[in-house]
Amino acid sequence: MSAPNKAYDPVEAATLSAGELQRMQADALAAIAAAANLDELKTARLAHAGDRAPLTLANAEIGALPPAARADAGKRVGAARAAVRAALVQRQADLEAERDRRVLVDEAVDVTLPWDRPMSLDGARHPVTTVGERLADVFVSMGYEIAEGPEVEAEWYNFDALNFPPDHPAREMQDTIFVAGPEPGERSGKVLRTHTSPVQIRAMLTRPLPLYVVSPGKCYRSDALDATHSPVFHQIECLAVDEGLTMADLRGAINAFVEAMFGEGLQTRLRPDFFPFTEPSADVSMQCHVCRGASAKPGGEPCRVCRSQGWIELAGCGMVNPRVLVACGIDPDRYSGFAFGLGIERSVMVRHGVADIRDTLEGDVRFSRAFGMEA
Ligand code: PHE
Repeated sequence: MSAPNKAYDPVEAATLSAGELQRMQADALAAIAAAANLDELKTARLAHAGDRAPLTLANAEIGALPPAARADAGKRVGAARAAVRAALVQRQADLEAERDRRVLVDEAVDVTLPWDRPMSLDGARHPVTTVGERLADVFVSMGYEIAEGPEVEAEWYNFDALNFPPDHPAREMQDTIFVAGPEPGERSGKVLRTHTSPVQIRAMLTRPLPLYVVSPGKCYRSDALDATHSPVFHQIECLAVDEGLTMADLRGAINAFVEAMFGEGLQTRLRPDFFPFTEPSADVSMQCHVCRGASAKPGGEPCRVCRSQGWIELAGCGMVNPRVLVACGIDPDRYSGFAFGLGIERSVMVRHGVADIRDTLEGDVRFSRAFGMEA
């Protein structure tokens, strides 16, 4: 073997051997084929065609070879680099085409969707459930307990105990769905409860005083289904019975609730109303959380959410009628109470700008998915 000469280092030259070059090329082609997306391809390009890539370094070594070996080495290195470049171009084109196909699918707009929020592809809870829980949480954080009652309810709880006398027209006011007449020996027939107020009665009859409860649940009325009415809907009801409660406490609870649910600083408005079980009774409106009342002022921009009224009707409320306290065995001279009740679908519609109550009912999973896991 001849002594190593400066211009020709056999160790370096070995890296330009046909076998070595083939291995470098094979490594590069394998890495390019394995790149599953454009980012991975970028990494493979740097590793196999970048400045420090084996084939690039091999190319730089050509100059150090004896002149006789250069042409051959140059051809082989050039061919290997060309093969790698071609593979990179091809893989880049394939991966870009794949990405474009995916974007077309992922970003397709389903014009039949009832709602224009981005869709979560995971499962989703229904907004009536999540908003209902959120409403209940607001009360629970104020120290209220959750109380529940049956949906098929005795007429006595749904009406009599709430101071609706048997022939009182207010019984019809709620478009009751009657289920069954009284069983022999019973005084009361069965109805699908028309509101969550019978849970007030159940709570007052069974729980110790003072009493702070909140009851969410399903209610039924023989309403025809349209954009704002549904024969089945959800209400949430708040009831407090304690010594010395006044309308100011009711107002305070309503304000705290509206601020927690719809936004700080929103005003509320109480206007006289009638419910047999509260006296005095009022209808609760809150300042529109979108325009904050500006749409109702002269020259204000119109507001879709409050129909430029500036206010949104939200709930019924009042001081528990002493007759209701008496029906539940509570001394009205010692205790007083307040109650308010509101529709959960209505809260969902107001909070999320849903225009049609039927969207909350029809069980189209795309509607729930639009809300993701959010409350
Ligand atoms: N139960 C009433 C309704 O369904 C709402 C309400 C609840 C009013 C509590 C006053 C107090 O219309």
